[in-house]
Amino acid sequence: MEKIVSTKKWSAAIRINHWVTVLSILILIGTGLYIARPFTASAGDTMDRYLMGYMRFFHILFGMLLSFAFIWRVYLAFFSRFKADWKDFFAFLDFKNLVKQIKFYLLISDEAPEEKYIYLPMQSLAYLGIMFMILAIIVTGFVLTGSGFDKGLVGFIYIFVKPLHTMLGLATVKFLHHILMWFFILYLIVHVYMALWTNAVKKDGTLFSMINGMMLEKKK
Ligand code: HEM
Ligand code: HEM
Repeated sequence: MEKIVSTKKWSAAIRINHWVTVLSILILIGTGLYIARPFTASAGDTMDRYLMGYMRFFHILFGMLLSFAFIWRVYLAFFSRFKADWKDFFAFLDFKNLVKQIKFYLLISDEAPEEKYIYLPMQSLAYLGIMFMILAIIVTGFVLTGSGFDKGLVGFIYIFVKPLHTMLGLATVKFLHHILMWFFILYLIVHVYMALWTNAVKKDGTLFSMINGMMLEKKK
């Protein structure tokens, strides 16, 4: 008789961190799209309207939340008491397994890649990539914030990101920040598709694992 066993894959901290990151990014995309191309000024007397101001306020607020979540995720990667998983982000360095996974996914071979780490090689590459993308959008975001307001914590962080401002100029930094947003939108589509696909094909509870922390496995 086959039994379904559930094992814990994600700690509560990782799950909360994941959804705080997702929420921030969704709000940052929404407000960012408005900042780039204000599609409405809302009805009424212009003197009483402050829509762009609110959009910028929430953009920067959730930008700070994303930065906090990013630092927290890096901390967990090294110091989590459940699983310090920084090594899992480098699973792609096992080139043999990487090739195995590519061949398997391209239906060239039916030999599945070995699950030596939390992530498969291609997954680790995608997750390491998204971490660098988050870092890049935070750094360019702080150049944009700091160039208009240089007091307090923002002013302090600006000291470290100012060289980028000086080297590239504000227009290029804003352009990079904007282009990065489209990469986030692309990532979101592929990532959600992969999560739904894995959940439906492998029936291993992947999708809900980011909610309840558990993965399902068939055992004889
Ligand atoms: C996934 C995360 C983010 C996305 C998708 C995003 C998106 C955008 C977009 C599309 C713009 C408009 C650029 C343009 O005018 O063409 C923008 C502007 C801006 N972003 Fe972000 N952003 C993100 C994260 C951040 C972070 C972390 C910060 C700061 C901590 C930040 C601060 C700013 C600032 C200050 C502006 C300029 C506002 C203005 O021109 O008045 N952003 N963002
Ligand atoms: C732009 C938004 C998103 C980002 C940046 C993101 C990032 C990540 C990262 C880095 C991981 C690996 C675990 C970790 O290190 O925390 C992960 C796993 C996961 N995410 Fe997301 N995610 C996003 C949106 C979503 C959405 C909207 C869903 C829901 C449909 C989702 C479902 C999952 C699931 C089910 C996993 C576990 C899959 C696995 O075993 O690798 N994610 N995500």
